[in-house]
Amino acid sequence: MTTITDEELYLNAEVLKDKVVLITGGSSGVGQATAIAFASYGAKVIIGDIDVAGAKHTIRECLRVGGTIGSDAMVQKCDVTSWEEQVALFDAGYKKYGRIDFVVPNAGVGGPPDGPLALTKRTKDIPAKPDTRTIDINLTGVIYTVRLGQHYLMKNKEKPLGPMAIIFVSSMAGNNGLPRGEIYSATKHGIVALCRSLTEDYRGHGIRTAVVCPWFIDTPILKTASRVALAGIPLTPVHRVAGAIVCAATDPNWETSGASYNLPDDGLVMRTERHELTVGVYKLLTDRINGLIKVQTTANHYKNVVSDLFMLAAPHLTVVAFVLPILAYWLFTRWMNS
Ligand SMILES: NC(=O)c1ccc[n+]([C@@H]2O[C@H](COP(=O)([O-])OP(=O)(O)OC[C@H]3O[C@@H](n4cnc5c(N)ncnc54)[C@H](O)[C@@H]3O)[C@@H](O)[C@H]2O)c1
Repeated sequence: MTTITDEELYLNAEVLKDKVVLITGGSSGVGQATAIAFASYGAKVIIGDIDVAGAKHTIRECLRVGGTIGSDAMVQKCDVTSWEEQVALFDAGYKKYGRIDFVVPNAGVGGPPDGPLALTKRTKDIPAKPDTRTIDINLTGVIYTVRLGQHYLMKNKEKPLGPMAIIFVSSMAGNNGLPRGEIYSATKHGIVALCRSLTEDYRGHGIRTAVVCPWFIDTPILKTASRVALAGIPLTPVHRVAGAIVCAATDPNWETSGASYNLPDDGLVMRTERHELTVGVYKLLTDRINGLIKVQTTANHYKNVVSDLFMLAAPHLTVVAFVLPILAYWLFTRWMNS
């Protein structure tokens, strides 16, 4: 476990200049603070959110902090539960800036409006079907974002500029259970699992990853009941969460890819490396799968090299294929006549 000071969070942030970051849920809270943090180092920001008015406010702030060093920002209305709207978001951002270097699938909501999953008393009737929209936004939406994110980041191979990363936003409720917030906690456990499971595949394509797990933060996601329950307990400052996301995206050390950046209270960021959590037979299996991923990535690389060489040689091969039979026929007729 490594403790990271607030200054250290921005140690490598200069690499953000002229890079492009796509953030979902950038109209408010963590997404907004992250957008402004990236813009203040000269990154261009693409925001996808259902709240366009809030996103426009974020964009104004991005242009204010990053204007003089060449930042830029755009918004596209996007409900993350819609694959088509996410496709349109990535497409619009890519068309405007010509590349995407970082993706932060951040959009999220709290627990479902129909209350906790646990039943509080015995009833004669069948209970109501649980509302699972939180899963659609917090988990399915993120799955859509990272599928598209990887696709667009891999396009940078043709014009590399520097680091690339997909940084997940989970929660301390992704490490621990959250009584009365069961479905929310389940989605955040899902985010941790996605990050840890995708790390090796992403590494093969030069994409860093990490998962940021904050304690409660003072943002609009906190409803009155949560605020009452949290009274007197210190909250995590939103600027530190944004700093952890910048740090996770820009750290040049590949050993930290796949790590968890935990913010369990109002104190400093604590990073848990991925290898600290994989032990015993789990490590054996993980090593075996990672070996397979490496073989597959290397095989794909050489397949691409061979296909590129073939493409280059194809015009000459056509000439050879055309000329050789004629030459053979000519030699044959000469031999017959001799
Ligand atoms: N605030 C906390 O206590 C806390 C703690 C840990 C993790 N988080 C996580 O941080 C992330 C951001 O939350 P926040 O605290 O900034 O809350 P927030 O309410 O301030 O921001 C959430 C953003 O997501 C957007 N959004 C919601 N549904 C959407 C949808 N279907 N499509 C697109 N955008 C949508 C909202 O418009 C908003 O801009 C979430 O993933 C949340 O789970 C928050």
